[in-house]
Amino acid sequence: MISMEQRPTSRENEHAASPAANHGATGRPAPVRFDATEEESQRIQALAGSTSGSVRLARLLLRQPRLMLHAARIALQGASAGLRADHTLSWLVHVETVRQVIPDGGMGATWGGLETFMGLVEKHVPKTAHALELGCGGGRVTRHIRPLVGTLVANDISDRILAEARAATVDLSAIEFRLTHGLGDDLRSEEFDAVIGHELLMQFDFDELLRYCSNVFRALKPGGLFIASVYTFDESGEMARHMEMIRNHGAGVRSPFRVHRMPRRTYQDIFEACGFEVVEVERSRPEEYKAQKTPHTNFVLRRPL
Ligand SMILES: C[S@@+](CC[C@H](N)C(=O)[O-])C[C@H]1O[C@@H](n2cnc3c(N)ncnc32)[C@H](O)[C@@H]1O
Repeated sequence: MISMEQRPTSRENEHAASPAANHGATGRPAPVRFDATEEESQRIQALAGSTSGSVRLARLLLRQPRLMLHAARIALQGASAGLRADHTLSWLVHVETVRQVIPDGGMGATWGGLETFMGLVEKHVPKTAHALELGCGGGRVTRHIRPLVGTLVANDISDRILAEARAATVDLSAIEFRLTHGLGDDLRSEEFDAVIGHELLMQFDFDELLRYCSNVFRALKPGGLFIASVYTFDESGEMARHMEMIRNHGAGVRSPFRVHRMPRRTYQDIFEACGFEVVEVERSRPEEYKAQKTPHTNFVLRRPL
């Protein structure tokens, strides 16, 4: 490592940008250095955050054409992972798959796992509530929520998915379907007595959850309730099962499921950081599910008065 005293001047730095030309007194190339100055670190961060990343990538590929094949392979992999990671496409493909086997089946026909969750909705949400269902998907849970509340708004990020939900609920009293996007920034402030989201929060990572749940908090009237299901690691063997799923299906956007899962305590910390108080937490039971599956953890949260 080069000591502070030996640090090259900025002119020498420019020279060092081309390692091949940076020959020492011995005639051998000087080793690259690994101790950037504070000022250099800041310049690197500013450049990394700038929008010219693709220009730099193009320059790199022109200088090192042997990287072209690698870049092409990664671009193809990224495009395919991106398509699979798109919620709308992946859920609509799920609906197609279900219909292939069950011609009149909707999104989640095989999922099950609603009894504990709906039991909490019935127990806590007043029958007169003006409620919002977040991420209603094909209307599977919407059908159960509708008779339990006064008025219901149901949202999702895709109008194609909302059309599925509309068709699945034609026989019920009116439901207002709203198209949404992003992390809840478009929710109106203090509109709802209750917000209900089954099997939605697992789509968000830590930072996204903080933003999403703050927006849900804002959308609730003071005293309003947020009932949400998540996946947690609480019991022995659950982390190992999750690791096996990652081994079999890939992680993050490479996984067809894109399931985020955290210890229950972490979820609680996130909810409390957003201002919620925890009213009740109950885990679903394994026998509620059609397939073998780690049961949801269901949170009942309140925006304090
Ligand atoms: C796993 S499905 C669950 C559907 C339904 N709640 C159920 O349990 O049957 C998740 C749904 O959330 C929707 N979704 C994803 N991101 C969303 C977001 N940011 N806001 C609202 N809905 C979202 C998806 O389009 C999908 O329909």
